Amino acid sequence: MAKVLVAFATRTGQTKKIAEAIAEGLKAEGADVTLKNINETKKETDLEGYDGYVFGAATYHGEMMGPMKTFLFLAEKANLEGKVGGAFGAFGWSGEAPGRIFDTMKNIFNMEMVSAPLRIKKVSAGDGAQKARAYAQGIAAKLK
Ligand SMILES: Cc1cc2nc3c(=O)[nH]c(=O)nc-3n(C[C@H](O)[C@H](O)[C@H](O)COP(=O)(O)O)c2cc1C
Repeated sequence: MAKVLVAFATRTGQTKKIAEAIAEGLKAEGADVTLKNINETKKETDLEGYDGYVFGAATYHGEMMGPMKTFLFLAEKANLEGKVGGAFGAFGWSGEAPGRIFDTMKNIFNMEMVSAPLRIKKVSAGDGAQKARAYAQGIAAKLK
């Protein structure tokens, strides 16, 4: 069974909801999922032992949330090369964070990324939950 870490940074909870929806989707595909707020992840050994990593942060002032920047420096030390990856985040209008996280995982960590970052305004609105589930299916397919 593939082990996946879904880690998120949120201010008002929207990105957590996306993380939960992705985690549910991964579980439905048979993955063993650990869901964590990044403030529970203090050392690079907390990132060891997973086959896939899905990182998410909300966008504020055109950037990913500050704690996600620190978390990515931690993840840089964890040697995630070749592992399956995805990135997501809630946003209001410009939504830079998921793309920046995705590009860091791809270009710096040399991870095996899914096709694109996932940006959702609200999981509870429109087809948000469906998009999160489809994203989880894409990650699960790469893990097989
Ligand atoms: C002060 C402030 C600045 C924001 N800046 C941006 C921004 O630059 N781009 C964007 O797409 N959304 C921006 N947003 C919207 C948030 O990304 C959006 O509310 C998102 O749902 C928050 O996710 P969270 O609940 O995970 O923190 C901003 C919101 C606030 C309150």
